[in-house]
Amino acid sequence: MYNFVFQNTTKIYFGENQLEHLGEELKQYGTRVLLTYGGGSIKKIGLYDKVMDELKKTGLTVFELSGIEPNPRHTTVNKGADICKKENIDVLLAVGGGSTIDCTKAISAAAFYDGDSWDLVTHKAPVTKALPIVTILTLSATGSEMDSAAVISNLDTNEKYGLIHPLLQPKVSFLDPANTYSVSAFQTACGAADILSHIFDCFYFTASKKMDMVDRVMEDVIKTVVKYAPIAVKEPENYEARANLMWASSWALNGFLTTGGFQAPSCHAMEHELSAFYDITHGLGLAILTPRWMEYILDESSAPQFKKFGVNIFGVDESLSDMEGAERAIECLSDFLFKTLGLQSTLTEIGIDDKKFKVMAKKACRGDVLQGFKALTPEDVENIFRMCL
Ligand code: NZQ
Ligand code: ZN
Repeated sequence: MYNFVFQNTTKIYFGENQLEHLGEELKQYGTRVLLTYGGGSIKKIGLYDKVMDELKKTGLTVFELSGIEPNPRHTTVNKGADICKKENIDVLLAVGGGSTIDCTKAISAAAFYDGDSWDLVTHKAPVTKALPIVTILTLSATGSEMDSAAVISNLDTNEKYGLIHPLLQPKVSFLDPANTYSVSAFQTACGAADILSHIFDCFYFTASKKMDMVDRVMEDVIKTVVKYAPIAVKEPENYEARANLMWASSWALNGFLTTGGFQAPSCHAMEHELSAFYDITHGLGLAILTPRWMEYILDESSAPQFKKFGVNIFGVDESLSDMEGAERAIECLSDFLFKTLGLQSTLTEIGIDDKKFKVMAKKACRGDVLQGFKALTPEDVENIFRMCL
């Protein structure tokens, strides 16, 4: 167990009818607001109008950046930063899923940088200052609403990197489960796979010793997702299911579950290569990779943890040997992702072949080995990609 510092400063308004506090929260930071959003889902669900009504009531001056892409691009970050500079923006309001929130976080830092925002993402230039950010979450998945990370893509170079800095932590996030009723069954399932992967990767499956208390909470969050994601897929307007997924999304990655551990997210590193090259949905890539990664690293030392996962989450028979129990656990996870949630189970099904596996594997390892539950060489990563075909 490692020493740790835990601090999470995001104020959360959870539940329905909390937007009446939006104006007062934004006003603390100034009067000129940049509202950011994606491809239009917030208009379809009437959230845009509700937000605008609140902003008008408070007399704030609003500018807009729309069209933020899933897997947000650095070029969109640059556009947002230009608006901030030109219009002297005081505070950013991100309304959407992880992509909108991540893009907005990067804009908040790029607003104080005179070059290409990609320099910040690649650490060629440091983050020195950032505008305050308020978010309204519409998709339960990434945890971006309550963490200090932004994942940005560069389509010119096929790169996708995380920028992590305390200044990117949202000041306030509004979490209304009803805003996720319109999320499709596919995106709901992908979001669930992402939440699970945040816990697996950071660091439910680990070679280091973790605190029992943290391990127990991790399993409760995993069980929550396993219970409520299928309900949300079948009954999109089930408030209880949407609420549980939303809070699970935030807690999977808000720093609490990573206390005392060593963060080395193997499946995330491999998935970011898939979405950097093929622009796929992050949670889908994770769903396809995770059971294959488990199979690949399954040996005498990893089997007890996989078996424990199977026993505690899916009720796998405890009397099985470690190896049999682990194999059964991997089957249960695959069934959950591919049968219960209905996600595609292979890269072939989503149009990805082996042409770029070598280059993606090398990039995932950043010229070294990919750390994690088991360290993976580029050859290992390539083998795992191949198992996903
Ligand atoms: O663009 P709009 O029109 O809003 O549509 C989006 C988008 O097409 C739609 N959507 C969102 N809310 C909706 C809705 N559709 C109907 N009703 C609603 N209420 O869903 C699609 C996907 O949205 P996106 O924001 O891309 O999904 P997600 O929240 O899964 O974010 C994925 C991005 O976050 C990064 C991923 O790599 C990816 O780029 N991640 C960010 C992390 C972080 N900041 O800590 C960690 C994660 O591991 C992840 O890497
Ligand atoms: Zn993720």
